[in-house]
Amino acid sequence: MELKMKRNLFIAFEGIDGSGKSTQVKLLAEKLTEAGHRVYSTVEPTDSYIGTIIRDIFNHRIEADHRTIAGLFVADRLDHLLNKANGILKKLEDGFTVITDRYYFSSYAYHGAHMSLDWVIEANSLSAGLLRPDLNIFIDIAPETGMDRIKRGRSSLELFETIENQVKVRAKYFEAMGKLKGAEKIFITDGNRSPELIAADIWTEISKMGTSAL
Ligand code: ADP
Ligand code: TYD
Repeated sequence: MELKMKRNLFIAFEGIDGSGKSTQVKLLAEKLTEAGHRVYSTVEPTDSYIGTIIRDIFNHRIEADHRTIAGLFVADRLDHLLNKANGILKKLEDGFTVITDRYYFSSYAYHGAHMSLDWVIEANSLSAGLLRPDLNIFIDIAPETGMDRIKRGRSSLELFETIENQVKVRAKYFEAMGKLKGAEKIFITDGNRSPELIAADIWTEISKMGTSAL
């Protein structure tokens, strides 16, 4: 399909662990590049100093309370947006279409599963005020499928990677998406299918935006 878009986009991928986000980020980046976009793909937690602390907690190298982790993500996200060298706002200003593997809905879901969802939303309000995605793409898979996928080819599991937690996180995603449906553009796709079918669905949705952005 021929796609012409004048405007560069900001797209966030969301989903539980193993839902296929990074696979779809890659496929969408290829399609958008073919359509003439300069694409910058990025991920949260970031590889900044703050992101490194978060990864050390997930890998059980250091220990921290859930509330501390939620706060670290608030800071990591602000730096992800505002960093003068390679922040998302700078990349958008430079004309890139930015695709992020996780953004604030991840915080709503992962931290909302352990503390007040309203607090997490409020704590991320600076980021939401700075930049809302043109589209949040939620890849929905059964928690059991996600766990099976991440266990394959991995000897150890990270902090949030238990079936009980993934069930809670998926439920919180739906609660947060319901709560914010007035403010956010959200597309939910069935991730229990082949990567190609999921990518085709996502492309159809993006193409609709492309037309309206002309
Ligand atoms: P995430 O970034 O959400 O954790 P990945 O894209 O890394 O997910 O996918 C997790 C694992 O599942 C990888 O081994 C990947 O090859 C596989 N995978 C991704 N999408 C699908 C799919 N639609 N069907 C089956 N396996 C998939
Ligand atoms: P990562 O290894 O990138 O997992 P995945 O490939 O599934 O995205 O680690 C991301 C982990 O961080 C994942 O378990 C979700 C969690 N997370 C939060 O708890 N809060 C957040 O705000 C974000 C962005 C991620």
